[in-house]
Amino acid sequence: MIITCGNCRTKYQMADNLIQKDEFRVRCTKCDHSFLVKKPGVGSELPPHIKKRASAITAAQKRYPDNPNCKVISICNQKGGVAKTTTCLNLAASLSMRNKRVLVIDFDIQSNLTLLLGHKDARSFFDVINAQDDSLSSYLVKTEHNFWLLPSNSKMALLSKKHMPNENFEYMLRDKLLEVKADFDYILIDSPPSGDFYTLNALLASNAAVVPMPCDYLSLNGVSHIEGMINVINEKINHKIDMHVLITLFEPGNTVGKVVLNQIRGKYGDKVLNTMIEKDQKVQESQIVHTPVVFYSKECAAARQYRQLANEIETLFPASEDLAQASGYRY
Ligand SMILES: Nc1ncnc2c1ncn2[C@@H]1O[C@H](COP(=O)(O)OP(=O)(O)OP(=O)(O)O)[C@@H](O)[C@H]1O
Ligand SMILES: [Mg+2]
Repeated sequence: MIITCGNCRTKYQMADNLIQKDEFRVRCTKCDHSFLVKKPGVGSELPPHIKKRASAITAAQKRYPDNPNCKVISICNQKGGVAKTTTCLNLAASLSMRNKRVLVIDFDIQSNLTLLLGHKDARSFFDVINAQDDSLSSYLVKTEHNFWLLPSNSKMALLSKKHMPNENFEYMLRDKLLEVKADFDYILIDSPPSGDFYTLNALLASNAAVVPMPCDYLSLNGVSHIEGMINVINEKINHKIDMHVLITLFEPGNTVGKVVLNQIRGKYGDKVLNTMIEKDQKVQESQIVHTPVVFYSKECAAARQYRQLANEIETLFPASEDLAQASGYRY
């Protein structure tokens, strides 16, 4: 949760799991102002400064016209361990197998996606922002699996601390991505297990959100936070995010799983993607050898399902064929 001092406008970030009460008092360490903070609920308001700035055109938007044919999709859920990173990796690999030009953004300070792709000590979004005038394209690395990666590194943890006081901090990723949107059909963002600065940046850069969700009771509850965030962005800001739930880690033989699946379908209806990803040991094996499961074991259940997911995503969000001819990132 982001808290802004009502007096000096200093912003603070507070981990969601530390917030126990619906209402609590805090004191600004900069100006000593004491003020009341309300815990945001589902469908709650975004901070007013974000709403006010939503209609303002930033310098980056003036410089780089948006390419609406490039689809930006956040893979997000504040709950940890729901297969966000695994989905980002294998969806990227499956879309690139379909000759799509794909970029993945590791926007998680854990750097799991970067590690799974075998990259270490690479330059991250923090580095490109810190360098101020550098272009994003020089920070992208080509993976051996035919798609591109903007890595994460430990400095990503400083991003929120350093840049949250800046105006338009929530549009940093959207604005930087404008530089390369003409070169890709799909940009997938791997988000951290939180609903804060990083997820807000990812969502405001995205056309769609894929929310991975295992079929257990706690996951059903966990989605409501991200759903609330998306609803508020859709309703209060002139920015439409298409949310889809992806069932992950599904165990066909598990009776509880089937009951929860029915509840999820009842609650989210056609927002639930047709494709479900089963729990499959091959996924964990593939990660040891830094290879997406769609390449590691082409015929295992998870590989087939991730290819099917790519097909479904492409149907929902078609990429322009014409642009594929004009890429600066030739494969
Ligand atoms: N289909 C699957 N079958 C079996 N194991 C899986 C599958 N998908 C993911 N896993 C395993 O589940 C664990 C969590 O996956 P992953 O790291 O992708 O989740 P995450 O949501 O990105 O986690 P975090 O919130 O920490 O970023 C990993 O150990 C991964 O190998
Ligand atoms: Mg992850």
